Amino acid sequence: MRRPVIAGNWKMYKTIAEAVEFVKRLRPLVAKSDHCDVVVAPPFTALAAVAEAARGSNIAVSAQDCHWDKEGAHTGDVSPQMLVDVGCSHVIIGHSERRHDHGETDERANRKLNAALAAGLVPIVCLGETLAEREAGKTRDVLRRQSHGGFAALTPTEFSRIIMAYEPVWAIGTGRTATAKMAAESHGYLRELVAEQFGHGVGSGLRILYGGSVKPDNAGGLMAEEEIDGALVGGASLKLDSFAAILNYPRR
Ligand code: PGA
Repeated sequence: MRRPVIAGNWKMYKTIAEAVEFVKRLRPLVAKSDHCDVVVAPPFTALAAVAEAARGSNIAVSAQDCHWDKEGAHTGDVSPQMLVDVGCSHVIIGHSERRHDHGETDERANRKLNAALAAGLVPIVCLGETLAEREAGKTRDVLRRQSHGGFAALTPTEFSRIIMAYEPVWAIGTGRTATAKMAAESHGYLRELVAEQFGHGVGSGLRILYGGSVKPDNAGGLMAEEEIDGALVGGASLKLDSFAAILNYPRR
């Protein structure tokens, strides 16, 4: 049994006060949500305050990116150790917006992943194809490239600590969700790749989240797929009612 994860990626939204208010109101709504892990990923500026507001609850705090070095002359960057220091347990790595806005590559994602694991964080590693790649029939090639590049040189034990997020770029923030079947097919393929690389036990234990326009009305259908182990939610995680509705998706 893979325990589902529902994670909210707040991107570049929310002041410290808004983030803290959100978490205070979320706490009672998830106090009994023992069917899944609950994660929120505020912007860097709100991490310390959110970690404090979430203390003693079942809400885990994630950053949205990190550097691969422990410290150094890297203006504007934040190290995995600093994220631990501020109270994070998770970090998102390789999000398509980082790939697009900041030239993130599979090789850099791999370095960040190693550094995050060494610092004791749980990396949530994102991969997924663009619309042009899907239409050209290249989805599997892209997933294979990202997965081989992103996970190079990890041991099966290291890999077993990560969470993967399949996020087709064309579905992010567009209101265009992959159908549950499309997502499940990609998840199945990713799991096969992982099994080839790290062995069947690791493949079958890996939690793969779907991300891309997850909303309260499609969360149940996505989560009903055997292959889908949770959701990485952007837009709909910014409002308490929609995030709570997704967290409490209809269960069989
Ligand atoms: P979205 O974003 O839910 O707004 O599509 C998902 C993500 O980018 O993680």
